[in-house]
Amino acid sequence: MTGTLQASSGAPYARILGVGGYRPRRVVDNAEICTMIDSTDEWIRTRSGIVERRWAAPDETVAMMAGEAARKAIQRSGVEAGQIDCVIVSTVSHLHQTPAVAPLIAYDVGAASAAAFDISAACAGFCYATAMADAMIRSGAATYVLAIGVERLSDLTDRSDRGTAFIFADGAGAAVIGPSDVPAIGPVVWGSDGEKAPTIYQTQGWDEVVGPHGEAREGEPRFPTLRMAGRDVFKWASYTVAEKAREALQRSGIAPEELDAFIPHQANDRITTAMTRTLGLPDDVVVGRDIVHQGNTSAASIPLAIEALYEEGAVRSGQTALIIGFGAGLVYAGQVVVLP
Ligand SMILES: CC(C)(COP(=O)(O)OP(=O)(O)OC[C@H]1O[C@@H](n2cnc3c(N)ncnc32)[C@H](O)[C@@H]1OP(=O)(O)O)[C@@H](O)C(=O)NCCC(=O)NCCS
Repeated sequence: MTGTLQASSGAPYARILGVGGYRPRRVVDNAEICTMIDSTDEWIRTRSGIVERRWAAPDETVAMMAGEAARKAIQRSGVEAGQIDCVIVSTVSHLHQTPAVAPLIAYDVGAASAAAFDISAACAGFCYATAMADAMIRSGAATYVLAIGVERLSDLTDRSDRGTAFIFADGAGAAVIGPSDVPAIGPVVWGSDGEKAPTIYQTQGWDEVVGPHGEAREGEPRFPTLRMAGRDVFKWASYTVAEKAREALQRSGIAPEELDAFIPHQANDRITTAMTRTLGLPDDVVVGRDIVHQGNTSAASIPLAIEALYEEGAVRSGQTALIIGFGAGLVYAGQVVVLP
């Protein structure tokens, strides 16, 4: 071999340039949930913080919701759709193994030739995608990345299950991430704990519903749904993940009193409160509590919560926010970002 192989090199840093969300039209309040499970509005509010959530209609597909959120994010970013050269979609509720939904969304929003793929990192998905986008932009593998979290968890929720029926919801959130001259996405702290996989799981594989060659299965095959050992997940998130959030903050070099906002995955408002306490955040740090009106939308929850804080006028461009996602796997990822 004689030639010298060239390696790519990219921008010095990356930053989030624009965020957008899509919230399904139909609002489902706790009273409606209580027609499906033995519960009360008061129990749901005090145990989870949730007052209402949104469930998608048939036309509000994973691709449709993601496309709407992405168009908003692109418009706010000031980037032309055609400049986007990579689309990462985090979802666990696109019910087709292949093709991935990302190429469809890339085509839909006008980034038709972008590299496009799905990732499966459950409720940590948006932070996983942000970490990947940051690394790709700095390595030169991409210049503008569209990172999307989108879920139709209502399709995977057993409406008679007391442990999950009131929590899971639908929606999409997107961010355009591009080059920056100054640091605007801090070091990611991420990891997994597969030993705890059974704490959030799908009741059965698709091959247990119907055989790979269409053969019927014994018994009464049911559409798979999600189950959760709520108390175990609650403890893991409130202690272990809260420590990871602290590590992400420390590694960013931002002190708790310098942070402007804390926007964790919207899993349960009590988890958010426990994390805020562990982090020792001053009272004037803005805390994302979009779960109250949105439920737990998994990979979509962080960008949706960011968008909600802008709409409330609670945050503004240039402020710092600690984001952290955590969920089925178990997996987690967190980093400090400068808000677009
Ligand atoms: C699901 C969750 C709200 C349940 O709250 P909890 O305080 O742990 O509740 P428990 O399951 O321990 O049950 C406590 C009591 O409430 C009852 N209960 C459970 N579900 C109920 C419901 N939907 N409505 C009313 N009562 C309910 C239980 O029967 C139990 O009653 P008992 O004390 O008489 O035995 C909570 O565990 C949670 O949010 N966990 C984390 C979930 C999460 O973040 N998931 C996403 C991660 S990505």
